[in-house]
Amino acid sequence: MADDGVTGAPAEVGREGGPVGGDGAEAESVRPSGSAGSGAPAAEARRVRRAGETAQEKGSGLACGVAPDPAAGGEPGRSGIGGRSSPDGGGTAAAEVGASVPPARAKGFVRLMVWISLLGLALPAVTLAFAAAAFLSLPRFGALPGGERLGRVEASPQYVGGAFRNEVPTSRRAEGTGLADMLARALEPSPRKVPAVPLPSRKSDLKSLPEGSLVWLGHSSFVMRLGGMTVVADPVLGRYASPLKYVNGSFPGTEVYSAPDFPDADALLISHDHFDHLDQEAAVALRDRTRAAVCGLGTGAHLERWGWDGGRILEGSWWDSFDLGGIRVTLVPSRHGSNRGVRFDRALWTGFVVSGGGRSVFFSGDSGYGPHFGEIARRLGPFDLGMLDSGQYDAAWPQIHMTPEEAVLAAGDLGLGRYMPVHVGRFSIAAHPWDEPLERALLASGRAGGVRLVTPLIGETVMLDDVHALYRPWWRGLP
Ligand SMILES: [Fe+2]
Repeated sequence: MADDGVTGAPAEVGREGGPVGGDGAEAESVRPSGSAGSGAPAAEARRVRRAGETAQEKGSGLACGVAPDPAAGGEPGRSGIGGRSSPDGGGTAAAEVGASVPPARAKGFVRLMVWISLLGLALPAVTLAFAAAAFLSLPRFGALPGGERLGRVEASPQYVGGAFRNEVPTSRRAEGTGLADMLARALEPSPRKVPAVPLPSRKSDLKSLPEGSLVWLGHSSFVMRLGGMTVVADPVLGRYASPLKYVNGSFPGTEVYSAPDFPDADALLISHDHFDHLDQEAAVALRDRTRAAVCGLGTGAHLERWGWDGGRILEGSWWDSFDLGGIRVTLVPSRHGSNRGVRFDRALWTGFVVSGGGRSVFFSGDSGYGPHFGEIARRLGPFDLGMLDSGQYDAAWPQIHMTPEEAVLAAGDLGLGRYMPVHVGRFSIAAHPWDEPLERALLASGRAGGVRLVTPLIGETVMLDDVHALYRPWWRGLP
């Protein structure tokens, strides 16, 4: 370091009477006293002290990596002398202290290494952030509402503080459960989450369903013929109900219907924008064969991104109704949430009541148990059949899905004589065995009395008027 000009100029300092801190100017200022550290008068000592302080201040600029300041005598080869300055200004003391301070160039080197290290850490983080942003901008994530649609969202009484709210205080997860815990819980390998054999099914012709009939397609998807209209609800054609391939695949034997099997529809009902209810593949496949989509406020932004004409998207708030000719579709409260990406609750989740041809059907969408069921019955009942969220429950998210026992309670609140457990039988989002919701629902409805269970096979036609139809527990005995 002695030849780099940063540690000063020893030869000159030696000539001028001692190792004085400071740049060349400092050496000049010390010279008249002979040696500031050899018994100079007090005034002279103070002057030297001030000079030393000045030198230190100038030297610190170099230590920060700032270019040498010629005005401070910091030309290359003679600068950096500040590193040898001492606050007490004494020549000898300066020499002693200077020996313990790292050379300015060394400080600069350390600083450079710190910056390089920080850059090394920041670069992967920035790259990761860009990659995540690019991934989340893929079409599968849909779109957030904007423009006029956002204006309608913001005007909704359910939209408070930048997000939709449930009617009653609702938490996505139990206290002490983080998002990562929820995800781990949902993906947790546990026995019998997925059936080990293909599930049994039928394949009704969806294009020639009789009036007053309904076909369950697994999970929360169904096709219904009511009031001379064809209604498709929450259809899923994709193999995976998630944004990632190989995550949350459908159960074996449940992919009974493909796009060409679907009928032209008068209404596509979308309860909310989660991947197991709003499937991009289905939304695109049915886009040009469906008269109108009906969904909660904001949800249409996804459809529009996927090529739907905005004029055919009927968005509403809870209790809004749309008259589609033979049927009337009313959006009703559910207790849940929405998101496809990282922004939560920007689109309204909903249940539906569909009435037509003298019949009425209730679909809960995804919902936790709550007082809304009683209110829906009071305002829109009675119903011929209800499809109630009864699966994918977990202690980690007790308020946004119902247990089978809660679904039986809800069926009572709704005044249902029969209900079909849905959100089961095709995708696993919770740790419980795949058939547990069906078995528990059967037991709970038996205990409750007054409500019968409708448990068709996937693809089996259910006649709404056939209130005495019996459905065997087809899941029993399957591994
Ligand atoms: Fe959901």
